[in-house]
Amino acid sequence: MKSTLVLVALLTALGTVATASAQQPGAGEAAKVRKGYAINPVPLNMVGKNPQLVGLGSYIVNGQGACTDCHTSPPYVAGGDPFLGQPTVTNVDGFLAGGTEFGPFISRNLTPNASGRPD
Ligand code: HEC
Repeated sequence: MKSTLVLVALLTALGTVATASAQQPGAGEAAKVRKGYAINPVPLNMVGKNPQLVGLGSYIVNGQGACTDCHTSPPYVAGGDPFLGQPTVTNVDGFLAGGTEFGPFISRNLTPNASGRPD
């Protein structure tokens, strides 16, 4: 019983810290939010969104995670592949829409459906 209460208190505290840090980024996170906007390749629908979280998400997805390498097929338009020495032009129309084949697997469509969640 006592350990359950400790666990609940710990999880509550962690949740509070996570929520606070996500909504009010510190100096390091503010730089990531700015960078996230700078490297975002697509128009953004900001209606009802937390701008800090959108910027941070872009930093993670477009910078750290390189999610588009696999979840955009192909990642670049013809003539825009930096790995072929061309100036980078992202495939905006297929951005994060999935479709790259890995043997029996295929990368998933990460774009939001009508409910706002990944398809
Ligand atoms: C090396 C290629 C690769 C990269 C990089 C990659 N993914 Fe994926 N991802 C895949 C593949 C392939 C699948 C489908 C796996 C399957 O069907 O079992 C997938 C599936 C997913 C799914 C669906 C999981 C589910 O349970 O249906 C999500 C969400 C996802 N990826 C998010 C991301 C995010 C966010 C990033 C960047 C942080 C990322 N992926 C980077 C290849 C990649």
